[in-house]
Amino acid sequence: MKNIILIGFMGVGKGSTAREIVKQSEIVAIDTDDIIESMENRRIKKIFEYEGEEYFRDLEKQVSIWLEKNVSNTLISTGGGFYKVSNLNKIGKVVLLHSSFDGIYKRIVNHPQAEKKLRKRPLFQEINKAKELYKLRLPEYKKVADIIIDVENKSVEKVAAEILKKVKK
Ligand code: S3P
Repeated sequence: MKNIILIGFMGVGKGSTAREIVKQSEIVAIDTDDIIESMENRRIKKIFEYEGEEYFRDLEKQVSIWLEKNVSNTLISTGGGFYKVSNLNKIGKVVLLHSSFDGIYKRIVNHPQAEKKLRKRPLFQEINKAKELYKLRLPEYKKVADIIIDVENKSVEKVAAEILKKVKK
């Protein structure tokens, strides 16, 4: 099996969807932000704070090269900006989790740990800026995606099942 790569905007549910896919299947999962945090032995927030965004994007590139060379049969969830790496489609089948910006925002603020969810995301500190970034990225996400899954108003169980069905085709 080719790798499955989950892409999509911050807060759309890439992490929870990955965990649910693992539950429903035999697939093993990894996450690009987790890999970066262990490479650096510090949180994404700290990396942005001390080194800046460009440094972080460079780490994403390094991870993308490593994934292409070394990883197969794996579900890969990604940070919201990982889709920009130039070899994305060589790593595996790209699945976009799609929702409106309002849907994403509602999903975050309705979470019991909403504040924590927002605090750890340096690019989601101001809602207007985040919305601009969303608008800018949406067409780019769609361009690189092999499969687009609408996640708004759907349970994570349903989304995971839909993805599993589609990637098997
Ligand atoms: C980012 C998304 C974050 C994380 C970093 C940058 C982005 O991941 O990689 O803060 O550029 O959209 P999540 O999508 O898991 O929040």
